[in-house]
Amino acid sequence: MKNIVILISGNGSNMAAIVQTAHLEHWATQWDVHVAAVISNKTDAKGLDFARSHGIATEVVNHKAYANRENFDAAIVQHINKFEDANHPALVVLAGFMRILTPDFVNRYAGRLVNIHPSLLPAFPGLHTHQRALDAGCKVAGATVHLVTPEIDHGPILAQAIVPVLSDDTADTLAARVLTQEHLIYPRAIAKLLQIS
Ligand code: GRF
Repeated sequence: MKNIVILISGNGSNMAAIVQTAHLEHWATQWDVHVAAVISNKTDAKGLDFARSHGIATEVVNHKAYANRENFDAAIVQHINKFEDANHPALVVLAGFMRILTPDFVNRYAGRLVNIHPSLLPAFPGLHTHQRALDAGCKVAGATVHLVTPEIDHGPILAQAIVPVLSDDTADTLAARVLTQEHLIYPRAIAKLLQIS
């Protein structure tokens, strides 16, 4: 695996953390590993600006333009195809990508499709993880990097980070604390998966 293709829907701060770590640790020159492309399903995803300003190929695949998930996924596959070949399969990284992918898509990239989820899986798969952790009275929260399997927010765990839940936390303050940890564990988990650290 040499190329990394990152799928985003919004801010792309995890994507940026991966790009910055790759740069700081010289992944390209040391390991021939490149963040080759960023694909967004949203035209206005903030992360696209960061990617463009770092010379990374970007693509918008607007899910609303497709009749069904299969067609949408097929369009994404077409773009990923540009950055891989049979001898150099890409690593596909979901970083705040807010679309559910079909089992066909997931199986196609089995073992090289990763996601970060803002909870300590298997607790709180799905949405609104921080509010749910607060409502449950959790004393710790965190994030999980995992391989993607057809069941959403499941799949083998590659890395986790834990943060304390403070008594005056809101979902936003907790999310911000978790996000700083996401930025540390996601690049590390990717490096480990690619066996470059
Ligand atoms: C992160 O909390 C990630 O765990 C979740 O969505 C958020 C995306 O943030 N899946 P960003 O777009 O990487 O800034």
